[in-house]
Amino acid sequence: MAIDVTKLPQYQATPPEEKPKTPEQLKVMAEKETLEEERTYRKGTITIRDLIAPSSFEVNPDHLKLGNKFVRTMFIVTYPRYVGIGWGAPIINYNATLDIGMFFYPVKSEVILKQLRNRVGIVEAQIISDNEKGAPRDPMRETALQDMEQLRDDLTQGIEHFFQYAFYVTLYCDTKEELDTRTNEIESIFGAKLIYTKRGFYQSEQGFNSTMPLGNDELMITFNMNTSPIASSFPFISSDLTSDRGILYGINRHNNSLILFDRFSLQNANAVVFATSGAGKSYSVKLEVLRTMMMGTDVIIIDPEMEYRTLSDAVGGTYVNVSLASESKINPFDLPRAVGEEGSVEDLLRSAVITLKGLLRIMIGQPIGQSSVIGFTPTEDSTLDRAIIEAYAKKDITPDLTFADLAVAEPPVLQDLQDVLEGMENTGDLVARLKKYTEGTFAGLLNSPTTVETKNQLVIFSVRDLEDELRPMAIYTIVNYIWNVVRSERKKRVLAIDEAWWLMQHEDSAKFIFALVKRARKYYLGVTTITQDVNDFLGNPYGKAIVTNSSMQLLLKQSPASVDLIAETFNLTQSEKYLLMEAAVGEGIFFAGPKHAAIKIVASYTEDQLITTNPEQLLELEKAKKEFEESFGTQTVAPATQPEATRAKAAQALESAPLKPEEQEKVVATPPAQVAVQALPTEEIT
Ligand SMILES: Nc1ncnc2c1ncn2[C@@H]1O[C@H](COP(=O)(O)OP(=O)(O)OP(=O)(O)O)[C@@H](O)[C@H]1O
Ligand SMILES: [Mg+2]
Repeated sequence: MAIDVTKLPQYQATPPEEKPKTPEQLKVMAEKETLEEERTYRKGTITIRDLIAPSSFEVNPDHLKLGNKFVRTMFIVTYPRYVGIGWGAPIINYNATLDIGMFFYPVKSEVILKQLRNRVGIVEAQIISDNEKGAPRDPMRETALQDMEQLRDDLTQGIEHFFQYAFYVTLYCDTKEELDTRTNEIESIFGAKLIYTKRGFYQSEQGFNSTMPLGNDELMITFNMNTSPIASSFPFISSDLTSDRGILYGINRHNNSLILFDRFSLQNANAVVFATSGAGKSYSVKLEVLRTMMMGTDVIIIDPEMEYRTLSDAVGGTYVNVSLASESKINPFDLPRAVGEEGSVEDLLRSAVITLKGLLRIMIGQPIGQSSVIGFTPTEDSTLDRAIIEAYAKKDITPDLTFADLAVAEPPVLQDLQDVLEGMENTGDLVARLKKYTEGTFAGLLNSPTTVETKNQLVIFSVRDLEDELRPMAIYTIVNYIWNVVRSERKKRVLAIDEAWWLMQHEDSAKFIFALVKRARKYYLGVTTITQDVNDFLGNPYGKAIVTNSSMQLLLKQSPASVDLIAETFNLTQSEKYLLMEAAVGEGIFFAGPKHAAIKIVASYTEDQLITTNPEQLLELEKAKKEFEESFGTQTVAPATQPEATRAKAAQALESAPLKPEEQEKVVATPPAQVAVQALPTEEIT
């Protein structure tokens, strides 16, 4: 029978009935989809890891090949009975690329004590049995016994603790031969100290991982040690430029250790800073100032460029702007309030007269004789001598006063000296020259009683707004004033004179600074002289003497014109000379007493914001400050009277400051698409 196919009921494959989806299921599906998209997207982006990862990693039994570098890890297996302090230092100072990993695993004292008790038992038994046999004594065993007994005592009393200690060194070289040579060298450096090292064999990958800064000890090759020898393994003692006191000056470029130093621990606390313009002299001094202030030291600065203002505002310092128009006056006739000063009022007055004559020579001196040295004729000199003494006497300040009387006496001013001179014979010329400073254009500067206050941890004198002609005498007066303050109260102080070559231009001021530098130590004062004019400074006998009397010296980038003189003065080697010529900003050589090291001066981000003189950064800071003030409608408050307010302002300015360069890079390095993905609502991604 034929079947009519067409008549058959048509079979239709019914699709499985689609169940309606619940909202949860829909949500899960959407999430899955987003995750899938995210994964696909991620595959196409580049991460920092991709950029820094080596292109290949080949593991060999005794070395690794990391990209095109040959890498080998060594570990220490045994130590001698005695290890000297800083035994790791030669490795740190070894001139090769290497990583060092140290692991310390504390062990409970009880465990060790139990072990030691057993060992002591064994060793004692051996000694006794030797004795009984009549064998000669064995010094090795006796020493071991003594050591163990000592350790048991120390552990029980808690003087020592016990650790398992691991030390690994990984070397990175360009060729296999170099790797072998360097490995031998390191082995012999350790071998000389009776420390035995081995190369990681069939464990090169684990060795490499163990010296990565991840804290993974995959080798676990440890040596039992108690606290004292472990403490001696601290490697950064390459030179005494690292001390446990003092402040951070920078990074030692020989071995990346820190240059921590207390300048007051040297023979004298004076410092000189030499470099070309823009090499970072002021920057490093400001950094030092910020950090020494943390240690409670008082700081006084002479600032000819008004660049220490931000620093002063930030720490609530007193900022004194010395200019013809300003209210801040310093009287050159001031005398120190001699507290605890040995000597007599007569000595004090005499030295004041000499200092004043020095100042007057700068102010009204004239070329004398054939050599045209600025000064006075003998007649003028003796006239001035008498006149100054008389000017003091006019205010009842005479050598027979007591210190107590002197403390309340009011010193004369320049006008008084002029009056005295006018009453003397043949002084018309001197008076005429002096009038410029009492009645003429320059009358505002040196002819009034002192109004400056120095009761602050940081006091800065700015002389930027002074005419060039007046600067040397103003700085002279300021330094004299500071000297009086210093002598009046013994305190740990630092005086920084920026652009000190202003003072080297006149013999009198150079002599004065030299005398100050020489005597500073006795008053617990450290004088920092900063100059860019190296040739002028070192060409001057007083300048040279200042260098000899400064235990701390910082040399940053030098110009080819001055580098020879510098090399000669500081006994630099040829390579040090080149180092200085090619130094980047903030890099140079740091001398502390007889030791020196290449230094890189680094500041934290916050410090940098306070001390930078980079015009671009300053503009941005200025803008940020202005915006802050506008948004809060606050008025600028005078910093000298409102340190708190300014401090808050500076902090705020810092917070709203533009991004750090690294941060800016980070933002730029993020592809825009990635930013968009991150901006998706979170529930869609997860
Ligand atoms: N260690 C450093 N790290 C980063 N920036 C620095 C460093 N040292 C200096 N700078 C920057 O370099 C520039 C010049 O520094 P600085 O003002 O200290 O130079 P200087 O030697 O005092 O120059 P001048 O003799 O003209 O006064 C500044 O913009 C400063 O911010
Ligand atoms: Mg400077």
